[in-house]
Amino acid sequence: MEDTIILAIESSCDETAVAVIKNGHEILSNVVSTQIAIHRRYGGVVPEIASRKHLELINVVIAEALEQAELSLKDITHIAVTYGPGLVGALLVGVATAKALAFSSGKPLIGVHHIEGHICANFLVKQDLQFPLVCLVVSGGHTNIIKITDHGQYLLLGQTRDDAAGEAYDKIARAIGLPYPGGPQIEKLAKEGNPAAIELPRAWMGEDSFDFSFSGLKSAVLNYLNQAKMKGESIVAADVAASFQQAVLDVLVQKTIHAAEQSGVDTILLAGGVAANGTLREQLQQAAAAKGMQVYYPPVQFCTDNAAMIGAAAHYKAVRQEYAPLSLDVNPNLSFETLLSR
Ligand code: KG4
Ligand code: ZN
Repeated sequence: MEDTIILAIESSCDETAVAVIKNGHEILSNVVSTQIAIHRRYGGVVPEIASRKHLELINVVIAEALEQAELSLKDITHIAVTYGPGLVGALLVGVATAKALAFSSGKPLIGVHHIEGHICANFLVKQDLQFPLVCLVVSGGHTNIIKITDHGQYLLLGQTRDDAAGEAYDKIARAIGLPYPGGPQIEKLAKEGNPAAIELPRAWMGEDSFDFSFSGLKSAVLNYLNQAKMKGESIVAADVAASFQQAVLDVLVQKTIHAAEQSGVDTILLAGGVAANGTLREQLQQAAAAKGMQVYYPPVQFCTDNAAMIGAAAHYKAVRQEYAPLSLDVNPNLSFETLLSR
């Protein structure tokens, strides 16, 4: 197969991101224009503002990505774009732009599932990972344990039945007065707290279940905060952060190890925004080492939303010639199941 040089676009949430990726792993450029500072004053992402900002930024970010790669559109072999899941207006900006570029340049269009992008961030940095693999995907919208038997071949082992792990971090952060996005803030504050200070529930969902639930934990923390307020007691925010985080990580780590064990897999991957969490990385690595398993994860900038991961996923789709028609539409609720039927 000839080299692929993919221009990849990611605009599913609050990052306007464009990357140029050669052969799935050479990062010729990776530009991320984050809107975090704009959404922070509202305590979370405001969809209409996100769409408008994407629209203002997308052409500038594309030009910047091409310039940094020292390439022009004619050097690009494929145009790739996230088409779901995500915010509908935000996705529309990326998809409409990608379709226009593909149409005007005559290059094939590739539609990428955002979660497949997160998973493939691992292949950006390490190409010799041996299948089968088990991947824990933890982001603001998803919490999945996935078995990967080959590039593009996925099996869903478990998923959250309510809140995603990142969503729980963001909600608890908000409740203790930390700014958006809450994950990194909680991680930092937790380092100064006692993870055993407050007794909080862990939802195990049955012994052999790899499903998750974080809504009970979230309610338990909110109840704790309310009761303290009603009694006029002051809370130690660092202890709340540390105890909450430990309750999340205990379940993520144990279930992932158990899933790998049950599937006869000894290599575990981490993916998604919450995979940027250093305490999760350490605790998973420790638990895996005790079982003779290895853990790999992408560098932090490829865990949170970026377009390099979309370019990596698109490379393997290009190899399989899985192209999208120019009628490609966004799918804000694109399910993980669509990846399972290949
Ligand atoms: O993957 P991502 O950038 O966007 C989605 O696809 O959702 O993930 C964003 C989520 C947010 O909930 C954010 O709070 C969380 O990832 N996050 C973290 C950390 N960094 C980002 N959660 C825990 N610890 C972190 N260091
Ligand atoms: Zn994401």
